[in-house]
Amino acid sequence: MKRVNEKELQHMLDMAYEAMAHAYTPYSGFQVGACLKAASGRYYLGCNIENAAYSPTNCAERTAVFKAVYEGERSFDAIAIVCSGNSPAFPCGVCRQVLSEFCGPEMPVLCANAHRESVLCTLGELLPHSFGREDLEK
Ligand code: THU
Repeated sequence: MKRVNEKELQHMLDMAYEAMAHAYTPYSGFQVGACLKAASGRYYLGCNIENAAYSPTNCAERTAVFKAVYEGERSFDAIAIVCSGNSPAFPCGVCRQVLSEFCGPEMPVLCANAHRESVLCTLGELLPHSFGREDLEK
């Protein structure tokens, strides 16, 4: 995993806000955007995409991960996540698990609210004792 500096994280926040503008949220009205940086140096953007049946809704983080994996990416350096709410949007449990498939516990996760107030943490802090492929081999 390559290090991502503060300037780059701020640039990723900008892109995450742009991604948030693509959100499809007729049910919750709550928009989320994500910017995922791959080890290749490319950025993948995602938004939440809701559904009338509710449970098929896809979070912004998973949209970004799935786009990237489809394109052949398998490892990532950082993710920035923004939302339209007053509190920074931390990834939901399902998204933490999906991120852990491809991202190490040291990966920076920058979460921000609608006013650009942000909290920086790592994936390992968000998902300690995660279940991974190594557990299947035990
Ligand atoms: N949402 C995300 O996009 N990411 C998260 O990690 C939490 C929740 C979306 C799903 C739904 O469209 C809306 O936020 C309200 O739950």
